Amino acid sequence: MERVVSGIRATGQLHIGHLVGVLQNYLKLQEEYQSFFFIADLHALTTNYEHTEILKGNRVEVMLDMLSVGLDPQKCTLFVQSEVPEHTYLHLLLSMIVPLPWVERNTTVKEMIRDLDLKENASYGLLGYPILMTTDIIIYKAHYVPVGKDQLPHLEIAREIVRRFNGLYGELFVEPHALLTEFPNVPGVDGRKMSKSLDNDIKIADSEELTKIRIMSAVTDPEKVRLHDKGHPSVCTVFKYHLIFNRSEVDAIKSDCEDGEIGCVACKKQLAEKVNERMRPIREKRERLSHEKDKVIDIFDEGSKKARKIAGQTLEKALNLMKLK
Ligand code: TRP
Ligand code: SF4
Repeated sequence: MERVVSGIRATGQLHIGHLVGVLQNYLKLQEEYQSFFFIADLHALTTNYEHTEILKGNRVEVMLDMLSVGLDPQKCTLFVQSEVPEHTYLHLLLSMIVPLPWVERNTTVKEMIRDLDLKENASYGLLGYPILMTTDIIIYKAHYVPVGKDQLPHLEIAREIVRRFNGLYGELFVEPHALLTEFPNVPGVDGRKMSKSLDNDIKIADSEELTKIRIMSAVTDPEKVRLHDKGHPSVCTVFKYHLIFNRSEVDAIKSDCEDGEIGCVACKKQLAEKVNERMRPIREKRERLSHEKDKVIDIFDEGSKKARKIAGQTLEKALNLMKLK
């Protein structure tokens, strides 16, 4: 069976954008591939090295999110990156053979530095972000990596590193390919990209009340002020949510909005119900699991052990080929 590897940066509780864009895709993949899904807590350090105290808590929150949406340790290997120290060793070895321009031209890292306004605070570790990601993937000899478009430059480097290593020391690693998932993009309630740092997200773990408050505050078509004004769904954030969470009523909402037959308040209320309906079983499961944290952590410990076995074998072979053993 072909292998898939993918990681989620542990920067806090996941939101419904992660659910629709990433986790739902994982659910499919765990049925079709030998899948490894992990919490990239070391990657979280690349930009969050000042607040390491929140990492442990974040890790558990992401574990709860991953399990509550239905990732199943019987079907995939769930683990924590930092619990597999072989990643860090191989990362160091690879960093020796990567020419500086390869990492310096990486547009995604450049964007991170710009968006987070890091300037001189951007660390050496952040520059190595794609090399660590390469390690995560090739240490399991994964064939495919489900990612969004922004991660493609990293995968490009991953393939270049594989070719370079194999050319220098002998055939070991497999070139990974992106499984580009054309998932619907869930905007934040303010219409910008959904993100925790912009405080415009709806969390998987949020209560129904908070979900409703968030949705009621969402931006709509600015030209639709009164109930009977004619609206333009194509420019409305709320409508984008309807497209994802309320497929069965989306045609009716579109024409009612365009004809001025529905007001934004009613439209949002309808949406809030649908989102909450959809999230209810997930949230109930999450609530149950949150009372059994030891069991949850055990699942990831077990997965990390399984991952270590494979990662250890690959590292051993790499060290042999490099004549370091
Ligand atoms: N960089 C990925 C992201 O931000 C997270 C990640 C780390 C990852 N290591 C990985 C994804 C390995 C896929 C494979 O989304
Ligand atoms: Fe958006 Fe609904 Fe208002 Fe139309 S009625 S502008 S779709 S919130």
